[in-house]
Amino acid sequence: MTATEAPLDRLADFPAIPVGWAYLDTAATAQKPQPVLDAIARAYGETYATVHRGVYQRSADMTLAYEAARQKVARFIGATTPDEIVFVRGATEGINLVAQCWAATQLKAGDRILLSMLEHHSNIVPWQMVAERVGAAIDVLPLTDDHRIDLDAMERMLTPQHKLVALAHVSNVLGSVLDAKRATDLAHAVGAKILLDGCQAVPRVAVDVAAIGCDFYVFSGHKLYGPTGIGVLWGKGDLLAAMQPYQGGGSMIDRVTFAKTTYAPPPGRFEAGTPHIVGALGLAAAIDYVEGIGLAAIHAHETALVRDARAALSSLNSVRLFGPEDSAGIVSFAVQGVHPHDVGTILDEGRVAIRAGHHCAQPLMEALGVDATARASFAVYNGPQDIEALVKGVERVTRIFG
Ligand SMILES: Cc1ncc(COP(=O)(O)O)c(C=O)c1O
Repeated sequence: MTATEAPLDRLADFPAIPVGWAYLDTAATAQKPQPVLDAIARAYGETYATVHRGVYQRSADMTLAYEAARQKVARFIGATTPDEIVFVRGATEGINLVAQCWAATQLKAGDRILLSMLEHHSNIVPWQMVAERVGAAIDVLPLTDDHRIDLDAMERMLTPQHKLVALAHVSNVLGSVLDAKRATDLAHAVGAKILLDGCQAVPRVAVDVAAIGCDFYVFSGHKLYGPTGIGVLWGKGDLLAAMQPYQGGGSMIDRVTFAKTTYAPPPGRFEAGTPHIVGALGLAAAIDYVEGIGLAAIHAHETALVRDARAALSSLNSVRLFGPEDSAGIVSFAVQGVHPHDVGTILDEGRVAIRAGHHCAQPLMEALGVDATARASFAVYNGPQDIEALVKGVERVTRIFG
C-alpha cells in the first residue's frame, strides 16, 4: 500500500506546522498536537500546584493527575505496575540512571557490556563511563548487510562474562527495527540483563515490555508528541527495588536524620526534587493522542511513507539510501558529491526541514563510511505532499551541484 492509499492526515492537529512546510525531522523531536498544548496550558493556567506534599485540595488533585499519568505510561508500554515507571528528563537520563544505579554496582573488573554499532551516543557514553570506573570491557555488535543489528553475531559473541546488553529498539539513523524478543532471549540465555532504548520505537511501533521480557526500557516524551524534559525509565520491579539512588533530595526519602537516611520505595526513590509535573500531564495527553489514532495505523502510515520516499529517492541516480526497506519511519540518504549539510540547507530553501549530520551516532557513520547523512523522518502529520517536496528539493540539489 502506498502513502496515497493509506492517508493519515492529522496535519490540522499541529498548529506549529504552517501550510507548505514539510517537517521531516520528527526523529529529532516531534511537533505537538493541540490536545497536548491544551493539556499543558490547562495544567499551568488552571489546575497548577505541587504534587505529593500539599495538604490542600488543589495539590491533592494534581498528585492524582501526576500519578494517573504514571499509570497511563505503564499501561501504554505493558508494564505490570505503575511503580515500575520512573519519570526522568528523557532517555538520556534514564540510561544514565541505570548505568549509575545498577551497572556501577553490579559490574566488576572483567565483566563485559554488549552494545551495537548503530547506537545513539546516549546508549554508548554512559556505559563507557561505568566500564572505565569498574574495569569492565565493551563489545560491539556489527550490522547485517541490510543495516540491522546482527542477532546471529550476538548469539556467537555473548559469553557468561556479559552482564549487560543495551540496544536501540529502533535505530534513529537507519530506522531498522530490532527483534527485541530474540535479543532479550539471547541476553538472558547467558544471564545478562538487557536495556532497550525505545526513543524511536515508542512513537512508531506498539511496545509491550512484558511480552518482550526485557529488564529496562527507556524513552523520551518529546519524540512521542509530548513535551521536552519528561521521559520514562521502566525497570523490572525487583531490579528497581535492589537499586540505590544516585541523586538525593526531597521526595525520594523515607526518613532523614543526620545519622542516617532511608529511601522511599521505587519509583519515588529515583525522583529526587520537584518533578516535571506538567511534563507528565503533557505526556499523558500525548499517549491519549497516539492511542486515539492507534499505533498500528501510525506504523502502517509511516511504513507506506518510507516505501514511497525510498522508491522516489532511489530513482535519482545520485542518491544512496541507507537502512532496510522496511525501516520504521526514517530514511537516511546521501547525495553523491554533496555534503549533507548542503543538502539540508538547499532543502530548507524549499521549505523542507530534514536533519543532516552524524545524528549522535559517530561510530555508525564510521561503519557506513561517511561523515554524515541526510535524514528524513516521518510522523502522523506527513503525507505524499512532503515526499514530493523532498524529492523536488533533492533534484534541485543535484542541479545546483551539477
Ligand atoms: C535512539 C535514541 N536514543 C536516545 C536518544 C536521546 O534522547 P534524549 O535526547 O531525548 O534524551 C535519542 C534522541 O535523538 C535517540 O534517537
